Amino acid sequence: MAEAGNIILVGFMASGKSHVGRILSQRTGMPLVDADSVIVERAGKSIDQIFADDGEAAFRRLEREIISELCRGAGQIISGGGGAFVEADNRDAMLKGGTVFCLQARPETIYQRLKADDKSGQAVRPLLAGPDPLGRIRELLEQRAEAYGRAHHCIDTDGLTPEEVAERVWATFCPEGG
Ligand code: S3P
Repeated sequence: MAEAGNIILVGFMASGKSHVGRILSQRTGMPLVDADSVIVERAGKSIDQIFADDGEAAFRRLEREIISELCRGAGQIISGGGGAFVEADNRDAMLKGGTVFCLQARPETIYQRLKADDKSGQAVRPLLAGPDPLGRIRELLEQRAEAYGRAHHCIDTDGLTPEEVAERVWATFCPEGG
């Protein structure tokens, strides 16, 4: 276990980070901090709106600032946005700030989850806008595979419930139970 004792969840959009984070938080009593929610709070607007008004680079700057702050804390469950662990500065901060779990899933699973999440039945995220969201998911996953593979632990979530994923994270983080 890393010294700071944070549980850090990373992985592609819709890999289940927030859901698994909530379950872990309920189970352990550790507070859950969602980096994207902190970004929205600080910017005073939604992620979509930050991308539309200020562009991705501005979003990434804010993300770096917030990840660095959160990783200096201890005893939390930190859930990062799908691109957070891809940036080298964030990755270093996260790997030092706790035990990093990357939740992984096949592109088709991600696509189905994103569609199911969205009220309009489309896989809506600013980075997936365009005519072929599944193709874009495949492309981004390929670009990010190397970075995601640097997590301390990778968990394949295909076919697992969020409860089962949370169980695996906890069993790895705290093998003596509790
Ligand atoms: C992004 C993932 C999103 C959000 C932003 C960028 C990414 O978070 O941070 O749209 O680069 O993959 P989720 O992974 O929570 O969807």
